[in-house]
Order: sequence, then structure tokens, then C-alpha cells
Amino acid sequence: NFTPNAFVEEIVAEMKEKLQDDKVVLGLSGGVDSTVAAVLLHKAIGKNLYCIFVNNGLLRKDEFQNVLDQYEGMGLNVRGVDASQRFYDALAGVSEPELKRKAIGNAFIEVFDVESHRIEDVKWLAQGTIYPDVIESVSVKGPSATIKSHHNVGGLPDYMKLKVVEPLRMLFKDEVRRVGATLGIDPELLGRHPFPGPGLSIRILGDITLEKVRILQEVDKVFIDGLKSWGLYDQVWQAGAILLPVNSVGVMGDERTYEKVVALRAVQSTDGMTADWVHLPYEFLMKVSNDIINKVKGVNRVVYDISSKPPATIEWE
Ligand code: XMP
Repeated sequence: NFTPNAFVEEIVAEMKEKLQDDKVVLGLSGGVDSTVAAVLLHKAIGKNLYCIFVNNGLLRKDEFQNVLDQYEGMGLNVRGVDASQRFYDALAGVSEPELKRKAIGNAFIEVFDVESHRIEDVKWLAQGTIYPDVIESVSVKGPSATIKSHHNVGGLPDYMKLKVVEPLRMLFKDEVRRVGATLGIDPELLGRHPFPGPGLSIRILGDITLEKVRILQEVDKVFIDGLKSWGLYDQVWQAGAILLPVNSVGVMGDERTYEKVVALRAVQSTDGMTADWVHLPYEFLMKVSNDIINKVKGVNRVVYDISSKPPATIEWE
């Protein structure tokens, strides 16, 4: 039986013992895992924890600034780095999902490496890896090598001679949230849906352009804000919108349109390994669909994904 208080006490003591007066660098993503890892380590080693929050240009709308403000409000020693253009450059013309992940993973490592070199004599790299990440990364190497490579596990370049510390690697997501609550982290931040490291890039099927990022950010915002205002957000494990590489014909007034199709996905899950699509109320889907088509220029059709995992995955790429 998992008790968050005991876990915090134990891991903080363990981290103090392990890290002593060493400096530690940690990449914050805005997600629950890296945030909880940061607060735990901050509790253990204080200002010796250096956090870096990279904007890859593929976050949700306004996310970078909002979350950075929140981190600063929590007293974390955090540096925000806007590297959007670098990521867009790395992704230019790339359509294949695994190549997108590689491009983003590599760009992230480069940016992160430059930033961590600014910290004099840093010894450790902390990561918010949780148990399901550990499992899926291991199975990537197995015989059915089709599972997605999660870029936030492993992938440490040789020239960064940092030792890795992963305070959450034995925990499931719900346990991480309970630990976060014990640590006094804002419940809204803790209740956030998981969001993939490669961000919106794997929800834009095909190649990525600034215009597509803009469209998807707008659509996603209408969907997520809608879930919140209808009181549905907390009943869903993960939700997001996917921009399909398809134009469809529509009518707007007397005009024929030929614009993008977006898919909405909302799933129920405990750990992301299996998932069921959520039976969102028809009235909600109707409202959100109308709002998206009316408010987001470039979209004329909305569909809802009714596939479960397996055999479908949660993300489309
Ligand atoms: P799938 O699509 O494999 O997703 O059913 C399971 C969970 O993992 C997230 N996901 C990723 N997270 N890097 C990440 O950090 C990735 O490349 C990646 N691919 C999928 C997905 O959002 C879901 O929560």
C-alpha cells in the first residue's frame, strides 16, 4: 500500500545522501512528472537544483509563459529557453513519426546541453521518468520493435558525463500525483493530462508548418477549455486534438470550402498502457465542434476518435 508521505520522507533522505552538495540539472516539461521530480529534489537539495524549461514551439497555446510563471512562483531555480525556431528547423520536411521524434529528441539534447554547460561543475542529470516509461523503453528493444521510442528516456549524449538520478522511476502516474499533493503543488497543475514530449508535432500528421501548429493550438484550446468549462476535464485521463493531412469539402454561406479536418481524442486509462475512448456527451461534442469550425480559420470538419488501445494507440503517430 503506497503512502505518499512515507515516500517523500524516504526519497528526500535518499537524495540528500546521494547528491550531497552536488549540482543537479533537470529539464522541466510543464508536465506532472518533471514538476513533481523538481519539487522533490528542490526539497532535498534546494538551490543546487537547476531547472531548464525549453520551449520547443510545440506546446499548447500560451503554455510556455504560463507554466514558466508558475514554476517561478513555486520558488524553483528555473531558466526558460525559447528554442522554437530551432525545433521548427529540425522538423522542416519531416513527416515520418519516428523521424519527428528523433529530430525533436536531438534538438532537445543540443539545446539542453548548451544550457547545462552554463551551470558550472554540474554533476547530475535528474529526470522525471516514471515506471511506465521504463517499461515501454525496455520493450522497444524487444522483438516487436514497433512501440514508439520515448525520447525522454535514455538518449544521454556521451559527452555529457552526467550521472542520472530518477526519483520517480518506481511510481505510477496516480502515485506521482499523490506525492505532488503531499508536496503542496497546485492541484490544477497536478490534475493536468499527460502530454507527450514531442508535443503537437505527433498530433500534426505529416509535415509540420507554423500555420499547422497555429491551427492545432487553437483547436486544442477550444477542446480543452470546453472540457474544463463543462466539468469533464477531470473525468478524462488524456485529451487532445489531431490535425489530419486531409482537406475536405464544406460550405460556408454560399461558398464552397476545402479545408482541414481535425480529430478529437479523449481517453480513459490508468497508466496509458491500455485506454478506452470516453463517451463524451453528444451535446458537448456538438458545441465544441461548432466552436472549432466557427473560431478556427482553416478547419471545416471535426471527427471524434472512437478507437481503444489496443489496437489503436492513444496518439495517432
Ligand atoms: P501511445 O500513443 O503509445 O501513448 O498509446 C501512450 C502515452 O504515451 C504518450 N506518448 C509519448 N510521450 N514521448 C512522450 O514523452 C513520446 O514520444 C510519446 N508518444 C506517446 C502519449 O501521449 C500517451 O500518454
